[in-house]
Amino acid sequence: ASPVRIAPSILSADFAKLGEEVRAIDTAGADWIHIDVMDGHFVPNLTIGPGVVKALRPHTDKPFDVHLMISPVDSFLDDFAAAGADTITVHPEAGAHVHRTIQHIKSLGKRAGISLNPATPVETLDYLLEEIDLVLVMSVNPGFGGQSFIESQLRKIEAIRARIDALGKPIDLEVDGGVDAETAPRAIAAGADALVAGTATFRGGPDFYAANIRALRGE
Ligand code: DX5
Ligand code: ZN
Repeated sequence: ASPVRIAPSILSADFAKLGEEVRAIDTAGADWIHIDVMDGHFVPNLTIGPGVVKALRPHTDKPFDVHLMISPVDSFLDDFAAAGADTITVHPEAGAHVHRTIQHIKSLGKRAGISLNPATPVETLDYLLEEIDLVLVMSVNPGFGGQSFIESQLRKIEAIRARIDALGKPIDLEVDGGVDAETAPRAIAAGADALVAGTATFRGGPDFYAANIRALRGE
């Protein structure tokens, strides 16, 4: 298996100095920058729009892993692509035609991801898995950082890993929510190869980012 990718969620960064924070996690060893976009409708929180993504783009060359928790999502895809997203991940509940949404993301030249909420079944990936580049398993209910990892999602990760391996296509399997040095190895053992971590990356402040990221890798 390829080494695990670490994607710090800037939701836990200091929003008063986001550019500096992105540069700090880049230097500290982040593989991707995870950007949580929330609309106060699909999830009960408001965060970042395409203008902020665009403003952050010059601060790092690392891929922007943009997680859209907005509904309806389709009308914002072009803006996030233009702002510098590399991967755009959507929830199947965020529009009437998720297959069309995925085709739209790919037509923009971006990698396409599907995110499954804790109660969204693996079968939702039927007819979609072969079209996408990434599956994002939510191990908390989306909306906030700092929540506890939901154990049942380990079974879901295992089931999706089996499907990806059966398909034989290099699809990233990323886990998001409550990932820390204790839950990370369990998610990896279940088959995850990318980890989102907000609280566990940013805890302690900039002096700790590198050590925090190494701990998530199990180093
Ligand atoms: C939750 C977001 C996550 C969140 C993770 O809705 O999608 O990316 O920031 O935060 P932690 O790592 O603190 O659980
Ligand atoms: Zn996220």
